[in-house]
Amino acid sequence: MSLTPVAAPSAKITPNTLLERKQAHQPITSLTAYDYATARLADEAGIDLILVGDSLAMVVMGLESTLPVTVDEMLHHTRAARRGVRRAMFVADMPYGSYHLSADDGVANATRFLKEGGAEAVKIEGARPELVERLVAAEIPVVAHIGLTPQSVHRMGGYKVQGKTAAEYGRLRKEARDLEKSGACALVLEGMPRELAAEITAELTIPTIGIGAGVDCDGQILVFHDLVNLTFAPPARFVRRYADAAELFRNAIGAYRDDVVERRYPAEDESYHLPKNARGAVAEPAVAFETSKLRRKA
Ligand code: KIV
Repeated sequence: MSLTPVAAPSAKITPNTLLERKQAHQPITSLTAYDYATARLADEAGIDLILVGDSLAMVVMGLESTLPVTVDEMLHHTRAARRGVRRAMFVADMPYGSYHLSADDGVANATRFLKEGGAEAVKIEGARPELVERLVAAEIPVVAHIGLTPQSVHRMGGYKVQGKTAAEYGRLRKEARDLEKSGACALVLEGMPRELAAEITAELTIPTIGIGAGVDCDGQILVFHDLVNLTFAPPARFVRRYADAAELFRNAIGAYRDDVVERRYPAEDESYHLPKNARGAVAEPAVAFETSKLRRKA
């Protein structure tokens, strides 16, 4: 299979571009991708920020939560997606356990995502302004992430919308301000009331990127598998399905299977043949035997 090089990109998206977008009130588009093909498609479609999310634990690996995915597994997908991205800002998610034990650990693991994975920034969940400062001091741009943070599923008691009570509302506003002060270049707001996300967005100078947080954020992000219906589960309220890949792939796989069973595949023009003028030469028993073996294999 030959892979043609990715088309020359228009201007590369950087943390500064995201800031300019916010100032110009131009929405930021963002999507997850976990491999070369989807990252390339997202990049070519003009998505501004591509995230190798730890959601891959669930949508690619079929795990129950994001918690078990490891740094090495994330790096494997980060390297694959990296090869498809030319224009978008390319961000890797730090998995659970890779920055929770100590800031030193966090900096060491984040460094791996830049050096080994080719990431241009990392994303971390939760209110960790001190860690953000350490990462920024190590020249690592940071996208912070608050609200419904899936790595906190056990503390939250499930995947629940956050910020509905007055106390939570105030806490999340403060977390957002602290993360901006600590040097985060953007902030993901997940699973919170639209009104709260709108207020945080208006208060901050860094861009907010929403998922289940209403339309007033500076940008939006979705999980690729949600977008194309590859999750095998009912979608959350905020998910809009733009395609039905499950249906498309199911039909394609079923049609292929039927064609094999009915010997309709491969057809004559999908098979290799001896050159016409060599047919006569295949008279020797040994060669004829080799040829029929070859045909049986094909
Ligand atoms: O892991 C992920 O895909 C994410 C996005 C949904 C923000 O964190």
